[in-house]
Amino acid sequence: MYLGIDIGTSAVKASLVGGDLALIGSASAPLTTQSPRAGWSEQDPESWRQATIQAVRDLGRVHPLDGLRAIGLSGQMHGAVLLDATDRVLRPAILWNDGRAEAVCAALDRDHPELAAVAGVRPMPGFTAPKLAWLAAHEPDLHARIARICLPKDHLGLWLHGAHVTDGCDAAGTWWFDQAARRWSPDHCAATATDPAWLPEPLEGTDLAGHLRPEAAEALGLPAGLPVAVGGGDAAAGAVSVGAVKPGRGFISLGTSGQIFVTTDGYRAAPEAGLHSFAHCLPGQWFQMAAMLNGARPMSWFAEVTGQSVADLLARAETADDDIPLFLPYLTGERTPHGDSRIRGSFCGLGDATGAGEMMRAVVEAIAYAFCDGAEALRRTTEIPEPLLAIGGGTRSDLLLQTISDATGLTLQRGAGAETGPALGAARMAAVAIGAASLDDLDRQPESDRSFTPRPETAQRHAARLDQYRALYAALKPLGSPA
Ligand code: XUL
Repeated sequence: MYLGIDIGTSAVKASLVGGDLALIGSASAPLTTQSPRAGWSEQDPESWRQATIQAVRDLGRVHPLDGLRAIGLSGQMHGAVLLDATDRVLRPAILWNDGRAEAVCAALDRDHPELAAVAGVRPMPGFTAPKLAWLAAHEPDLHARIARICLPKDHLGLWLHGAHVTDGCDAAGTWWFDQAARRWSPDHCAATATDPAWLPEPLEGTDLAGHLRPEAAEALGLPAGLPVAVGGGDAAAGAVSVGAVKPGRGFISLGTSGQIFVTTDGYRAAPEAGLHSFAHCLPGQWFQMAAMLNGARPMSWFAEVTGQSVADLLARAETADDDIPLFLPYLTGERTPHGDSRIRGSFCGLGDATGAGEMMRAVVEAIAYAFCDGAEALRRTTEIPEPLLAIGGGTRSDLLLQTISDATGLTLQRGAGAETGPALGAARMAAVAIGAASLDDLDRQPESDRSFTPRPETAQRHAARLDQYRALYAALKPLGSPA
């Protein structure tokens, strides 16, 4: 048996797979996010550790973990965990959806336009490197004490196995990585007030990082000395979970964030399209990704705002057919295609008769239109495979998947166990790390539990609405985040 641990944004998930690499069971423990100022997003790395202990212990209560052979890791990408010379955490981690480094990114775009083609993407505030330049300017005393930087899963790894390492995908998401050469770029470090000596050693996700330290073993209730694999940033570990491990394989992910992801056998940058061209967590592979900051999250946001459940709102949205307002889903700004951290969400076209069902329908359609923009950007370099597997919590909604299919024209397939994602991929990488499985064994796509094909009768309506959606963004862009 192999254990995968995924540090998500809303929860830590622990998943167990058997010797056949099939899922046995999962448990999760919730996380909260702090926003000390508008547009900021932080978490305490200690909360990841506590949630990991809870999730692993909860999993062990249902599925005894005696036969465990190895552990693999996955986590939210791009976060900055800053450590001093004694490995003490210097401040709360600054997360992937934090917008504070916007002015830094504008300056990097202006002063170092040549760096984007090497880093695989234009500088955007969520990435790790711009956060370091922001810290140098705004928290100089703290910046002066930095001795090490970790990505979220690698900070947990430091506690589990003691090695300061990362994988290609998490390295890729920092904006310090030379994607083609798969090594840290001194130019990107120099432009962002970063000493390359602070950075983890980039390895492959299927490499062994180390062995479970006694202190961590005791906290988790597991035997000390268990092998721990490096694992992968959640985008790439999600790819492993659905077998997107060969060139041309892809999927869409509907979690807090949203992605369209296609594995490639070479590096093909298109930063002008807002695309992310990143190293995979597997040897000799890269991927192209349209990365949307607001995947399925606008649905739960609207549920929180209205005090109703997502399921109830979706049921009302199903029957709301007329007078649907337009919604922009950019609650935390947007990466692909806009690279705009200042834009915010908005409803347009509310009428006297507009109810929560109509508004939820607008939210669902807006998520689909964000995927239309992402697909259009991706097609500039890469063919999108079909049927395209859909994974993540948002796939629970048939309405959302059908609307994405109708609006993008893509045939989607919901994979069985589609909600599991990166933790499953991490567990499978653990099996490869100890030689119990091969890289070829990762080539397994989930059975489909349902297909969603575009309905031609909806095409005209969505094309017209998509034009309006794009016009609404163009009109609101100058306003950014109104004070
Ligand atoms: C990818 C991305 C997400 C985050 C949060 O670029 O931002 O995968 O890791 O899940």
